[in-house]
Order: sequence, then structure tokens, then C-alpha cells
Amino acid sequence: MLLKVFVFLVLGSVAVKSQQPTFNDDVLGLIFFKAGLQDPNAKLQSWSEDDNDPCNWVGIKCDPTTYRVTELHLDGLSLSGHVGRGLLRLQFLKVVSLSNNNLTGTIGAELSSIGSLQVLDLSGNDLSGSIPEEFFWQCGSLKSVSLARNNLSGQIPGSLSSCWGLAEFNFSYNQISGQLPSGIWYLRSLQSIDVYGNLLEGDIPEGIGNLYDLRHLNLGNNRFSGRLPGDIGSCSLLKYVDFSENYFSGSLPDSMRKLVSCTRISLRGNSLRGQVPGWFGELTSLESLDLSANQFYGRVPYSLGNLQSLKELNLSMNQFTGKVPSWMFSVSFDQVLRVLDLSSNGFYGEIPSKLGVLSSLVFFNMSRNRLFGSIPSTIGELKATQVVDLSDNMLNGSIPSEIGAAVSLKVLVLQRNFLSGKIPTQIVNCSSLTTLILSENNLSGSIPTAFPNLSNLEYVDLSLNDLTGSLPKELANLSQLVFFNISHNHLHGELPLGGFFNTIPTSSVSGNPSLCGSVVNRSCPAVHPKPIVLNPNSSDSIGGSSRDHPRKKIVLSISALVSIGAAAFIVIGVIAITILNIHVRSTSRAAAALMLSGAEDFSGSPTNDSKYGKLVMFSGDADFVAGANALLNKDCELGHGGFGVVYRTILRDGRAVAIKKLTVSSLIKSQLEFEREVRTLGKIRHHNLVALEGYYWTPSLQLLIYEFVPSGNLYKHLHDGPDGSYLSWQQRFNIILGMAKGLAYLHQMNIIHYNLKSTNILVDSSGEAKVGDYGLARLLPTLDRCVLSSKIQSALGYMAPEFACKTVKITEKCDVYGFGVLVLEVITGKRPVEYMEDDVVVLTDMVRGALGDGRVEECVDESLRNNFPAEEAIPVIKLGLICASQVPSNRPGMEEVVNILELIKCPSDGNGKERFE
Ligand SMILES: *[C@@H]1O[C@H](CO)[C@@H](O)[C@H](O)[C@H]1NC(C)=O
Ligand SMILES: *[C@@H]1O[C@H](CO)[C@@H](O)[C@H](O)[C@H]1NC(C)=O
Ligand SMILES: *[C@@H]1O[C@H](CO)[C@@H](O)[C@H](O)[C@H]1NC(C)=O
Ligand SMILES: *[C@@H]1O[C@H](CO)[C@@H](O)[C@H](O)[C@H]1NC(C)=O
Ligand SMILES: *[C@@H]1O[C@H](CO)[C@@H](O)[C@H](O)[C@H]1NC(C)=O
Ligand SMILES: *[C@@H]1O[C@H](CO)[C@@H](O)[C@H](O)[C@H]1NC(C)=O
Ligand SMILES: *[C@@H]1O[C@H](CO)[C@@H](O)[C@H](O)[C@H]1NC(C)=O
Repeated sequence: MLLKVFVFLVLGSVAVKSQQPTFNDDVLGLIFFKAGLQDPNAKLQSWSEDDNDPCNWVGIKCDPTTYRVTELHLDGLSLSGHVGRGLLRLQFLKVVSLSNNNLTGTIGAELSSIGSLQVLDLSGNDLSGSIPEEFFWQCGSLKSVSLARNNLSGQIPGSLSSCWGLAEFNFSYNQISGQLPSGIWYLRSLQSIDVYGNLLEGDIPEGIGNLYDLRHLNLGNNRFSGRLPGDIGSCSLLKYVDFSENYFSGSLPDSMRKLVSCTRISLRGNSLRGQVPGWFGELTSLESLDLSANQFYGRVPYSLGNLQSLKELNLSMNQFTGKVPSWMFSVSFDQVLRVLDLSSNGFYGEIPSKLGVLSSLVFFNMSRNRLFGSIPSTIGELKATQVVDLSDNMLNGSIPSEIGAAVSLKVLVLQRNFLSGKIPTQIVNCSSLTTLILSENNLSGSIPTAFPNLSNLEYVDLSLNDLTGSLPKELANLSQLVFFNISHNHLHGELPLGGFFNTIPTSSVSGNPSLCGSVVNRSCPAVHPKPIVLNPNSSDSIGGSSRDHPRKKIVLSISALVSIGAAAFIVIGVIAITILNIHVRSTSRAAAALMLSGAEDFSGSPTNDSKYGKLVMFSGDADFVAGANALLNKDCELGHGGFGVVYRTILRDGRAVAIKKLTVSSLIKSQLEFEREVRTLGKIRHHNLVALEGYYWTPSLQLLIYEFVPSGNLYKHLHDGPDGSYLSWQQRFNIILGMAKGLAYLHQMNIIHYNLKSTNILVDSSGEAKVGDYGLARLLPTLDRCVLSSKIQSALGYMAPEFACKTVKITEKCDVYGFGVLVLEVITGKRPVEYMEDDVVVLTDMVRGALGDGRVEECVDESLRNNFPAEEAIPVIKLGLICASQVPSNRPGMEEVVNILELIKCPSDGNGKERFE
């Protein structure tokens, strides 16, 4: 305002008089223009009718002397709406720049009626419709017009040819069709033509050679046809020529050799033919030459070696032949060449060993040629190279270990060659690697163990090679992985668990007969403690496990595990089939059904899951006798408890095993947890504990395989029948001590038995007690009191009182309670709870009462007929009662109990191990 006042004072009334009304016209015109727009971000807030000085408004520039609005810059303001007639009032407007908004509607003729307009930029809007013919009728001042990135259709108006001052026009990225108006070749001021990405068609009209000033010509991505303009060479200032992705045909016009200023020529994606002329080497300004996807043939002229500024050379997808041009690998290219794409041609020969001189090379593609020989070790000198593609050649030899020095590598593609040898471990030095495709070669050896260190890996294809060995588990940590194909190799062992491998498609791992894991529906041998997967099916097994353990061929015949009583129907291979992942055939399905229906409380047909199983033996050499006793034959049932039914079968070496079929499937943990728990239990080895020899898992069937203890359980010895075996005092004492030792060891291993009772104490032929069924509660998903007590309710009388008391934590002391009850049971020969005619006698109460009455000796089993040392019996009874204390903390630890028992035992005694049958 001050300035205006100053102007007013200095220039006097004449100037003011002439300015005043038109000044208002600018305001009016702009306000009118604004009214047609939506301005969601209120960018035009300063545009106010009340403000008579538009020169301060956002986006406006005025002439400093006349204060008339000359420039309007409203780029990228998210304006939408139409460009209305308002701007017509601004008679001195030179620049209208409204790019990158959301303007819609058609382009009216109005804008061009602003005779003063020099620059019009409407690019990056949503304008549609065609450009009206009148649009360029008054374009005498127009120097630059950009309508790029709109949705304009129709033809380029012929009137464009009347814009004799036009230096550049940019109609790129529209839907403009029709031909180029030939008149534009008379616009001598034209420096830049960009019609890239339209639907223009037809021949290029004659006369482009008139445009001596042309620097930028982009006709790419249209539908032009015919020959390249023969006079293009006259545009000797051309720096940028793009004829790509059209239908140009014929050969290269000779005049192109005059384009010595040209830095970039793209002829990609046409139907150009012929040899590449030697004069290309004269275009020494070239930085980028793209002749790809044409029909050029013959040798690449040596003269290209003169193009010392060349940064990008793409000759891909032509029919070039001849040896790999070694000049490309000469020092002159050393500092600059960044992109070299010679793919899909007929180049043959060896890759020049001077590869290493291309120290700036970022992208290198020589795939689909006829290269042979080996990959030069100088590949390691390509320090800047991010992409190497040598696929689909005939390269042999091994991948050089020097590849590890190519530290920028992101993409390495070597598929479909004849590469042999190992994947070099040094490849893990290429820490940026995202894509590694080595498929369809003859690579052998194993996947480098450090491979999972390549933490950026996204796409890995190692399929169709001869890779062996197992997969590093840590592959599961590759968090970026989207594709990992190792199919059709000779890999073995367990598929990694977790991460991408949880969802890896089967097709990516198939064709590796010895790979195991749920994806391939093939169970894995356990790795702990000494796992052997029994492969029952064939003596000349081809499976990997037999390869790895040639000693352990057929070990298990299913007829050993399953033979069916009534139906004299011996089926071979339920477990074999499940292990070998052969889909269930009718016979094996029958077997599965029979196997399961043989089990007492199984009803319903086997699910598909039962097809797949995993059998693991913790100790080796467990051959099952073919055709031996039925596992699930009722006659072989040994008994059943809260956790399952127990059967007996015999190994080939004559050793019997007890097989417990768990009947709490629905309560069992996941396979992983199940196996973890079972393996923990399998580790436990103690003279007084029944050893767990192995297990079998399917989602619907779980078997635990135990050492078989022949002489039956303690219950039988104590309570079964009048002719039940007679147990001497020494034998009883020894059983008590054995139980104590077994439990002490369990507790030392941090395992709570939870389920002590006389049926779970087995007695071997030498009278040694062996505690069985320990730790099974660990297999339950939760150590829920409710579940526990329902599972072990048969153990009534043994259950520690704290099970009923929600607030007391259950510890190993619950076993001490059960042990105390067992001690009393062994000594008295009475069940923990005896049901009399109209009375229930609880053993502990009874003994405690007798002790109080001083007649505890009367409690000792009558069958001992007073043939026992009272000085041992009474302390043992007392110990039993202490162990069966109501309060857990009053009970001694099992270690302590063992010590006490050893003290009680009279030193004069023998070892008490009479023959026991
Ligand atoms: C243009 O409008 C569309 C919706 O019509 C909107 O999604 C987009 O963000 C707008 N663009 C700009 C630059 O404001
Ligand atoms: C572009 O214009 C055509 C008609 O010429 C119309 O069908 C199409 O939807 C428009 N596209 C956009 C993105 O506005
Ligand atoms: C033409 O406009 C497009 C889109 O705005 C732009 O990418 C291109 O560089 C312009 N062409 C020239 C020669 O400036
Ligand atoms: C080379 O040209 C081919 C075909 O036009 C194209 O697919 C490829 O991406 C180009 N290479 C580079 C590095 O741009
Ligand atoms: C190399 O070129 C081939 C053929 O032109 C193409 O299929 C492949 O994708 C290219 N490789 C890379 C890594 O771009
Ligand atoms: C690779 O192939 C060439 C012939 O193409 C042969 O002379 C050479 O011995 C082969 N090298 C290896 C390592 O197989
Ligand atoms: C790989 O990296 C290690 C340590 O960074 C280096 O000692 C070794 O030389 C590298 N290997 C290659 C082939 O560059």
C-alpha cells in the first residue's frame, strides 16, 4: 500500500486514473475464478473481495510497475472444480500454472483468449474432453503449454501450428489420438515436444528437420508407425530422442549419425530392423542407448566402445549375435557404465574375464544367450553391482566363491545353466541379497549353514538341483521371505518351523523324498535322545532315513503293532504308510480303522489325520516281530487307567513292550508340546522307573511305548485272589524302598507323578518295584485340578487332600502322600479304601487309630503270619503315616524318605531279592 501511495504521489493522477478501473477488473476476475473452484484446504483464503490488492494474494504475481496481475501460480493446492471464464478479465496475464490439482471439466477456448498468455500449465489434473480447435487461435504469445497427465482425448488441434512462438508443448499421458499435425514442423522455435503415452498414430509427417532448435523429442508409447523420420539428423541440437514403444519399422535413418549432442536415444519396443551401424560410435555424447525389443541383428559394432559417456546400454531382446563384445569390458567403460542389458540375444562364448573393470556397474543382465564356460571369478570385483542375471545360458563349472566379494548384490539369477559344485558359503557375505535364483542347475552339497544370515532374502529359488543335507532351522527367521522353493532336490531332515515356513506351499518343498515336516505330511524322526524312525515297509527302503541309518532297515512291521483278532487280516504298513506319506489306500485305511476300532473306547472312523503318524523310539534296535501279538487285541490288554489302555506286544529280539494308547486325545497338547513332554519323560532312566521307550503320534492317536515289566502290578500281588502271590516282609520292604527311590529320582528330575496307586507300581521278576505312568499329567494342556482329579479318580484314597483345596499349590508333596498310602497298603495288604457291608474303611485313618491305641502291629498283613521284624515294620508304618500327613509341609521329601528307609533296614538282612514270580 505504501508503494501504491508512493506511486500515486509520484506518477500523479493520470496514472491512477487509467489504473483504477482495470485494477478492479483483476480482482473481479480472480474472485470470479475462485468462485468456480473448491478449495478444501482454504489455500485461497487471502483472496478476498475486500482486499483490493491482489498482488499480495497467494499465488499471484504482479507487474512491479503497473500492478497488473501477470502470473498465477496455484500448483498442487488440491483445488477442484472448473477453470471458469474469470481469468479472461486478467488482460495482462502471462503465466497460468494450475498443475497438480483436481481440476475437472473440459478445456474451454477462453484461456487462449488471453492474448498475453505465454505459459499455460494445466498438467496433472482431471481435465477431459478434447482440446478445442479455437484453443490456439490467439496463441501468438504462447511459449509453453503443458496439458500433460490429464484425461484429454480427441486430436491435437491443427491450430497449434499457428503458435509461432511456441517453444515447448507437453501433451504427454493423455488419451489423445489421431495424427501429429504436420504444421508443427513450421514452429521454428520449438525446442521440446512431448506427446509420450497417448494414442497417436500414423506416420510422422515430413519436415521435422525444420526444427533446428529442437532439443527434446518424445513420441514414445503411442501407435506411430512407418519409418523413423529420415531428416531427424537436421535437428542437430537434439539431446533426447524417444521413439520407444511404437510400431516404427525399417532401419535406422542414416542422418541419425548427426545427432552428436544427443545424450539419450530410446528406440525400445519397435519393429526396427537391420544392423546397428558403426557410426553409432560417433554419438559420443550418448549416456543412454536403448535399442531393446526390436529386430536388430548381426554383431554389435566395435565402435560402440567409443561411447565413453555411456551409462546405460540396453540391447536386450534383439537378434544380436557374435561373441560377447569384449570392448564392453574395456577400461574406457570403467567409470561410467551402470546398466548393461544384453539379455535375450544370440551372444555366445565365455563371459570376458575382464568383467571386473566395470566397477560402476549396477545392473548386469546377460540372460537368455548362449554363454558357456564358467562364471569368471572377477565377478567379485563388481563392487557396485546390485543385479546379476546370467540365467538361461550354458554356463558350467561352479559358482565362484569370490561372489562373496560382490557386496552390493541384491539380485542374483543363475537359473537354467549347467552350474555344478556347491553353493559357495561365501555367498552369505552378500548381505543385501533379496533375490537368489539358482534353480535348474546341477548344484550339489548342502545349503550353507550361515545362509539364514542373509536376512534380507525375499525370493529364493533353489529348485531342481542336486542339493543334499538338511535345511538350517534358522531359515525360519528370514522375516522378509515371500518365496522359498527348494523342490526337487535331495534335501532331507526337518523343514524349519515357524515364520514363512508355516505357510510354505507344498509345491515349494515337494520332490525331496527325505524332507519331513507337516507341510510334506511326513513325520520327522525325533532328534532326542537317540531317535530312530522305524521304517516298517520295505527291507530295501529307499527312504532317506535308511540312507542315513543303513543298519536300521525294516524294523517294524505293522502286523507287529496291529494284528487283528477276528478278521484274520494282516495289514502291512499303517505306520509305514504314515511315515512314508503315501496316501492311504483302501487296505491301509482298513488297517487304520481296524487298528482304532480294536481299541476299546474308540468309536467313529479315523480322520484323515490318522494317515500321518510319527513313530519314535528312544533307544535303538527295537525290532518288532512280524506277525507277533496283537497290539489291540483284547487278549493282550494289560489294563487301563485314567490316561489310557495298555497293551502288550513283543519286539523281534523277544523283548516285550507295553503300549499305552492314550484315551485323552482331546485333552492332549499340540504335537510339538506333546513331543517335548514325551521326550523329557523319555530321558528318564532309573532302575525303579518303568522306562518310556518311544511314542507314536498322530493327531487322533497317541501311543506311548514302555518297557514291559512282566510280573504284573503291585495291586495284583497284594489283592488279587487267594492264590495271589505271597509277598515276604523283605520283598515288601524292598518294594517300598524301590518306590521311594524311583519317586525320589523323579522329583529330582522335577517331575511330579500325580497318579500314584498300586496298579501303577509294577514289580519285575526279581521283585524290584518299578514306578510307571509317571508324569502323564504333563501331557494335558493344563494342569487343571478338575481334569486331574477326574483322570485319577480311580486313585481314590491315594489323592492328597490338597487336590480338593483350591488355594493350596500342588507340589511333588502330593506324590509323597500317595507314597505314604502305598506304604500302608503294602504293609497291611489292604486297599486304601475298603468297602465293608455297611461301612467304608479308610486305611490311613484305620492305621492311625491303631497306632494311637498301641496295637499297630495288628495292622500288618495277616498273610505274613507274624513273620516280620516289628523293629522294621513299626517305623515303616510310622513313616507311611507321616508321608500321608494332611498338611503337605509335614510330609518329608522323597530323598529323605529313602534315607530313613535305609536306616530302618536292619543291616543283618539279606538283600531281600528272592526269586519272585
Ligand atoms: C483429487 O480428488 C480425489 C477424489 O476425487 C482425491 O482422492 C485426491 O486426493 C484428490 N487429489 C488431490 C491432489 O487433492
Ligand atoms: C477419461 O475419459 C474417458 C472418456 O474419454 C472416460 O471414460 C474415463 O473414465 C476417464 N478416466 C478418468 C480417470 O477420468
Ligand atoms: C511433460 O510432462 C510430464 C508430466 O508432468 C513430465 O513428466 C515430463 O517431464 C514433461 N516433459 C518435458 C519434456 O518436460
Ligand atoms: C531393457 O529392455 C528390456 C526390453 O525393453 C526391458 O524389459 C528391460 O527392463 C530393460 N532393461 C533395463 C535395465 O532397463
Ligand atoms: C534379464 O532379462 C530377461 C530377458 O530379457 C528378463 O526376463 C529378466 O527379468 C531380466 N532379469 C532381471 C533381473 O531383470
Ligand atoms: C564346461 O564346458 C566346456 C565346453 O562347453 C568344457 O570344455 C569344460 O570342460 C566344461 N567345464 C566343466 C567344469 O564342466
Ligand atoms: C566374507 O566376509 C569375511 C568377513 O567379513 C571376509 O573375511 C571374507 O574374506 C569375505 N569373503 C569374500 C569372498 O569376500
